[in-house]
Amino acid sequence: MSAVRFRPLNRKSRAEIARVVTDYERSPLEWDPAHVIEDLRIEQSIEGLLKPDADRRNWIEVVCDESGSVLGHHWLRIEGEGEYRFATIVSLYLAPALRGRGLARRLKEHGEAWAREQGATQIKTTVHLKNPRMLALNEAMGFERGMVLMSKRLG
Ligand SMILES: CC(C)(COP(=O)(O)OP(=O)(O)OC[C@H]1O[C@@H](n2cnc3c(N)ncnc32)[C@H](O)[C@@H]1OP(=O)(O)O)[C@@H](O)C(=O)NCCC(=O)NCCS
Repeated sequence: MSAVRFRPLNRKSRAEIARVVTDYERSPLEWDPAHVIEDLRIEQSIEGLLKPDADRRNWIEVVCDESGSVLGHHWLRIEGEGEYRFATIVSLYLAPALRGRGLARRLKEHGEAWAREQGATQIKTTVHLKNPRMLALNEAMGFERGMVLMSKRLG
């Protein structure tokens, strides 16, 4: 794979927003084959990001190829106020062909810089225990493990 470029998501492009939201919704299939993709939720996320004021708290950087096609993204959201103002990582995704080149690390560095500029005092994320790549990357970047979400299928 040749050169890639980092740039903000084109928030006027429904197709580009749809690419990011679909990658986000599909990525749990990589560690949970039973993950269910809900078309309605995808549509609602796309509509939410198309709203003009979605920019105020959401930040999405994309990685694209030479033709401008989106092949990965990092999506953060600012929550809370004052000393409780923190950034949540909504999603991080890279197309398989781009993995292992340090691009996720660079996306995360950019995202953390943005969160600091917004006055966030902490950055939080949830990671599945069956996703060792992401656990390793977060820990390498200084994240500490916290709560464990437990769940059980009921039929
Ligand atoms: C997780 C993901 C974003 C990593 O992207 P990437 O560009 O390959 O990551 P990088 O090349 O920046 O790797 C950075 C670090 O991640 C860890 N890592 C990456 N690939 C790994 C692998 N196959 N096994 C173990 N650790 C790995 C390492 O700590 C690596 O640091 P190192 O290169 O110094 O050893 C990518 O695999 C992906 O999109 N996965 C599917 C979506 C996903 O899991 N998103 C996170 C949801 S919480």
